[in-house]
Amino acid sequence: MKTYTLALIPGDGIGVDVTDATMEVLDVAAAKFGFALAPTTFPWSCEYYVETGKMMPEDGIEQLHPFDAIYLGAVGWPKTVPDSVSLHGLLLPIRKAFTQYANIRPHRLLPGVEGPLKAEGFDILCIRENTEGEYSGAGGRVHQGQDNEVATEVAIFTRKGVERILRFGFEQARARRKHLTSVTKSNAQKYSMVFWDEMTDKIAAEYPDVTVSHMHIDAMAAKMVMAPQDLDVIVASNLFGDILTDLGAAIQGGLGFAASANICPDPSVPSMFEPVHGSAPDIAGKNIANPIAAIWSGAMMLDHLGEKTAATAILSAIEAATAKGIGTRPGASSTDEITAAVKAALEA
Ligand code: IPM
Ligand code: MN
Repeated sequence: MKTYTLALIPGDGIGVDVTDATMEVLDVAAAKFGFALAPTTFPWSCEYYVETGKMMPEDGIEQLHPFDAIYLGAVGWPKTVPDSVSLHGLLLPIRKAFTQYANIRPHRLLPGVEGPLKAEGFDILCIRENTEGEYSGAGGRVHQGQDNEVATEVAIFTRKGVERILRFGFEQARARRKHLTSVTKSNAQKYSMVFWDEMTDKIAAEYPDVTVSHMHIDAMAAKMVMAPQDLDVIVASNLFGDILTDLGAAIQGGLGFAASANICPDPSVPSMFEPVHGSAPDIAGKNIANPIAAIWSGAMMLDHLGEKTAATAILSAIEAATAKGIGTRPGASSTDEITAAVKAALEA
């Protein structure tokens, strides 16, 4: 039997609740579709930081390397550890160390979920660059605390980085409705974003079957509210993709439904799967977090590992649950109820 090794990092807050829920569902899928999951749980979190002074051990990346995939719940507990420390100590280094350059986030309404828009029939796949751009980590502060203090945060766009994320987007578009929208702000940012536009046109020539639009980030924000049904695949930089995918989450009914995958197509390193939402300290441990985003992310993990039938079945099971109204409104169903409904639909 095929066995997949999984590194589980439940992390903080509801990250723990939703990771448990996801593993329950994935275990049902494994039993049903004839493969095995071998999870190892890592306690890396803000609690771990308080105990050790680090979010993960010095050799954390090496420890994760041999796994087939990484599943992460959520990171952050700002009461004890500033977010800028916890995220730069765990989530962001993992994305960069394993060159998980494509952050994929689907935005569509599940049956029974009422989004805030009039539009219903949208199905957007946002491909966010995940290793460089505005979140490259380059920059610094000088004269700290003085009147002449200076802070820089340098956005870095490399030809290699931009080409590969665009090519990834075009491949996704080719497998879907064959439309790609490249999002920049090249009217105001005349170096990096003009470069991105040029790379889009260059790669587009390799994909004559895909139609391409260029759109500025501000116009895209409006488009996602006014006419999201016109969009198929969106490719955007790290910052722009970050913002647009929270908007995407909002139009699909909330962060409880927003799944994500951090993909490195090279199979010799693990990719990482996580819901878009954070640790939500206010509802942690209360059995009210919606596990759907997390379970959907788990399905994306199985899909990446090659278990496509199981991944599709989990998605159908989620849809069967929400079609009955389970998990469709915040607080109406408990984490356990939603998980049980998805499991039951999967077993049926
Ligand atoms: C996300 C999150 C992270 C990001 C934060 C927590 C660093 O907002 O996954 O979208 O911006 O990448
Ligand atoms: Mn975000």
